[in-house]
Amino acid sequence: MQNKRVLLIIGGGIAAYKALDLIRKLKQNGVSVRVILTRAGAKFVTPLSLATLSGEPVEDNLFDAGKEAEIGHIRLSRDADLVVVAPATADLLAKMANGLADDLATTCLLATDKPVLAVPAMNVRMWRHPATERNVAQLHRDGVRFVGPETGEMACGEYGPGRMAEVTEIIKAIALNLSELHDEPLLGRHVLITAGPTYEPIDPVRFIGNRSSGKQGYALAAAAARLGADVTLVSGPTGLKAPSNVKTIHVETAREMLAAVQAALPADIAILAAAVADWRVNGTAKQKIKKLRGGEPPLLEFVENPDILKTISKPGPKRPPLVIGFAAETEHVIANAQKKRQAKGCDWIVANDVSEVGGAMGGEKNTVHLITSSKSKPESWPEMTKAEVADKLLRRAADLLARKAPIMTAAKAQKAKS
Ligand code: C5P
Repeated sequence: MQNKRVLLIIGGGIAAYKALDLIRKLKQNGVSVRVILTRAGAKFVTPLSLATLSGEPVEDNLFDAGKEAEIGHIRLSRDADLVVVAPATADLLAKMANGLADDLATTCLLATDKPVLAVPAMNVRMWRHPATERNVAQLHRDGVRFVGPETGEMACGEYGPGRMAEVTEIIKAIALNLSELHDEPLLGRHVLITAGPTYEPIDPVRFIGNRSSGKQGYALAAAAARLGADVTLVSGPTGLKAPSNVKTIHVETAREMLAAVQAALPADIAILAAAVADWRVNGTAKQKIKKLRGGEPPLLEFVENPDILKTISKPGPKRPPLVIGFAAETEHVIANAQKKRQAKGCDWIVANDVSEVGGAMGGEKNTVHLITSSKSKPESWPEMTKAEVADKLLRRAADLLARKAPIMTAAKAQKAKS
């Protein structure tokens, strides 16, 4: 952590007193700390204590012309290697999740281009409130990292999750985040990802779709970009916002998805996480099918869609060195996934159980099994957020490629670097 710079934003909660010790320990580790104190934070700790411990002036006012001339809020937000929000109160998290910028702390959080680590601390009911849960889920999607909260006795006398992580844990998380700053094992690699459902039209207004939310695929795209890759995301219809630094191509049908995937090749890694419809309606009606009084319901005839995974897994000059499929199963999860891996000809398959509506499909978490060959035992990973699954899977893929496949083109690596 030597010579690294942390911008510490202190919110207004009783746990703010721990920030004093945090600053002391960071300084002992050679980290320079610049502090922004919110108005509420100043009710719990004084600027004088913070300035004394950090050895730097404490910032607290967005509208101080003198300070703005000295070090503007934009510079303040970018001078650091990492922004730490501790304590991250329910109010601060809500402002961050919604992009509010009504004081120096929130303005810097919106203006920063650096990773943000939030250390929540609040009463258990506030932490469990659906509004806070929504905000935390949004912040996870935005790439904010978290440490804590811990479960235990609270200052207000209640018991449960909401206690701010201990200083030693925060230091560990800061060290990890700082060491990951230049951790880009996929630099120069092109990663192609499919996500979401496909919509297969019946007529101009109706379609056949499925429950895929696209969250796992989008998490994969965001993680691959964070790990330095050049990412193409081919997405079926979802309500999700395309991750930044990712080239996103929107499609509707399986055939459009296949065409977009083929056009995006070559790639070093292809991860096909989309829930592609196996069948489409033969001869989509040109006009809306009418309900005839006393008439029979229409009969739909299906034809098979192209199998994108199988198509791009076929040996050939454009076959990516690593092709990964997903197998969403409702029974015999591992056995079915093993069969699928062989049938499709992909290298790895990630299997998950989607029998529960509102579980992995549409939810924030996933419990997966990774199958890398027909010989080795499947690896069952514990339940993780989709972002964690994505990060772990891509690191495994990066490790394999580092040993197996040279980077596609030096020019690409150079472009990614610059
Ligand atoms: O639907 P199925 O269980 O066969 O999906 C397994 C894998 O195959 C997934 O990775 C999915 O993206 C892919 N797939 C595909 N094209 C299809 C059907 C599935 O790429 N038509």
